[in-house]
Amino acid sequence: MPSIVYLNGEFVARSNAKISVLDRGFLFGDGIYEVIPVYQGKSFRLSEHLARLNDCLHKVQITNPYTEKQWQSLIEQVVEKNDEKNTSVYIQVSRGFQQERNHVATPAVKPTVLVMTSPLSSGDAELKPIKATLLEDIRWKHCDIKSIALLGNIMLRQEAEARGCQEAILHRKQKVTEGATSNVFIVKSGVIYTPEKNQYILGGITRDLIIELAEKASIKVIEAQISTDELFTADEVWVSSSSREISPVTQIDDKIIAQGEIGSIAKKLHCDFQAFKQTLIND
Ligand code: PDD
Repeated sequence: MPSIVYLNGEFVARSNAKISVLDRGFLFGDGIYEVIPVYQGKSFRLSEHLARLNDCLHKVQITNPYTEKQWQSLIEQVVEKNDEKNTSVYIQVSRGFQQERNHVATPAVKPTVLVMTSPLSSGDAELKPIKATLLEDIRWKHCDIKSIALLGNIMLRQEAEARGCQEAILHRKQKVTEGATSNVFIVKSGVIYTPEKNQYILGGITRDLIIELAEKASIKVIEAQISTDELFTADEVWVSSSSREISPVTQIDDKIIAQGEIGSIAKKLHCDFQAFKQTLIND
């Protein structure tokens, strides 16, 4: 069965989904995206993802073409048409097609909307430790915007891959910001630390849920700066994202973190995360 995607009002086979070369998403990376996991046919934290999409569109002055209900219905239809119970939904809204290539958008430009599914990489019962590399955060100063222009993230993630690592942990002046595709947490003496939300990090939906679950479990969370030195002396380091959930980092470059063991707080929160997912599935 071919993959069915939604493109500008139509459901079409992915191989037939075409946009103009004059689309501003293609020419300028002028657009916003979201990645939403779907478990057993149910979108995970959908309203939070749609709220972030709406906020990001607002920040770059692209009109949100749909209401929350319309988005929900579109996502459900794409998931149903692809008959995939566990999948990852990718939404992209670019500023749209414009007659001439011009940095300045004309007011009449109408957003291009794509909704498609791709295989879900998370959803495993097991926590999988990863190796990370520490890199300077070379990106711009609006990392809170989930922009489709991901060149900085791509360069960093590719450098990590070239170094045999599954993620890059980024820093600005030795202060940890986030991962190339994830948020960062450390644990020290039973307390969780994660960088506070600001223009240098994406406010991760998974990050927020982890904080919620930790607080429910009476584990203290402090949103504050983390120095690169603190990474190496932490009892636990993990990264989080919609596609990875919680990934323990047991090695950063040539340094082994916490004897290479997965920490007890990561294990506890991973369990709570799976239980939280199960309640959504059973609902
Ligand atoms: N990336 N920070 C960055 C730079 C990210 O790219 C992501 C997720 C996150 C975590 O956000 P969330 O928990 O909402 O997924 C943080 C997605 C999954 C991607 O680009 O595919």
